[in-house]
Amino acid sequence: MCMGYKDNTTTTMAELSPLTKQEVASMLVQEIAKKGDEIPDNFLHKDGIPEAIYDPDLWRNDLLIDFSLLSSSSTTELAKLRSALSQWGCFQVINHGIEVSFLEELIEVSKQFFALPLEEKLKCFEAFQGYGSDTYSFKPKTSNWNDRIFLSLSPKEKVNLQCWPQKPQNFRIMIEEYSKKLTTMNEVMSTAMAKSLNLDENCLRFGKREPASIRFNFYPRCSSPKRVLGSKPHSDLTTLTYLLPEKDVEGLEILKDDKWYKVLPIPGALFINFGDSGEVMTNRVFKTSVHRVSTNSVKDRISVAVFFSPKDDEEVGPASELISANQPQVYNKYIMSEYLRAFFESYKLGSGRPLDAFQI
Ligand code: OGA
Ligand code: NI
Repeated sequence: MCMGYKDNTTTTMAELSPLTKQEVASMLVQEIAKKGDEIPDNFLHKDGIPEAIYDPDLWRNDLLIDFSLLSSSSTTELAKLRSALSQWGCFQVINHGIEVSFLEELIEVSKQFFALPLEEKLKCFEAFQGYGSDTYSFKPKTSNWNDRIFLSLSPKEKVNLQCWPQKPQNFRIMIEEYSKKLTTMNEVMSTAMAKSLNLDENCLRFGKREPASIRFNFYPRCSSPKRVLGSKPHSDLTTLTYLLPEKDVEGLEILKDDKWYKVLPIPGALFINFGDSGEVMTNRVFKTSVHRVSTNSVKDRISVAVFFSPKDDEEVGPASELISANQPQVYNKYIMSEYLRAFFESYKLGSGRPLDAFQI
């Protein structure tokens, strides 16, 4: 099971036919990189990539949140959280209570997975979940220099255990444990976000749910970092994304006022960003964060992203408390599945913002 399928429609599961191992391998960046320094055309950003600003102080001050202070409802920390989310849509969090040794082990087992023989990894291959590449799943105009394991975690109907790695041995258990730890953390975070806006604790409906999915990103070193991106500019479809980047390798960059900023990895910290669903639910009081991943020619890079998002059949709309004369309603309500169609279309084209379709 979990062998490949050829997909003619790109955004639906329809009309899938078996795919050979060679065809799958030809789309995996790790396999392409093994062949030599030549980069296939579909990865090249021919007009170049705008440079990013390096401002380490930003990450040591304004965008560094102490989770233990949020838990104790510190007024200054809540104000800092509010400011980070309304201006940047992201921050890094320390003192979050998840053991650093656990996070390091998670990165380590991810590395071990991507180092397995192709044959073993392909046991977890399927069109949209498991091991593979988005080039294969979505046929974008320009491809990302990235392979991944993408796994649905909830609701239960979407979980496909056949795509879950069996090796390394402790991988599955670690995913389950990490998911539990982040569920607890996300509940505290959601409450803190509501409090920072003087809202009722449950107002934002971000908490009290499990993550929807997890994504292990592998970005092999790249011979042409000036013309290739690990991930093109995008916003996540989530309420909140929790990202664990490898501690010694930079790559993540965020956009603010048309300028790109490098994210400085803080040892032991998690990077948290707001997604499109969060922007809609807060009536754009908190902003989605547009981000991208650069490549480098020296080191491979791993990251683990956990996504909290509304269910496909859920209605997404602004909290009424956040609509006012000063802040009129920005987006019409929609069902999550309607948004997902717009999301995949814009991903494929590499242009447009999925939320534009719902703007009032
Ligand atoms: C993502 C993402 C950033 C990174 O998986 O959506 O933006 O640093 N990842 O890997
Ligand atoms: Ni992202």
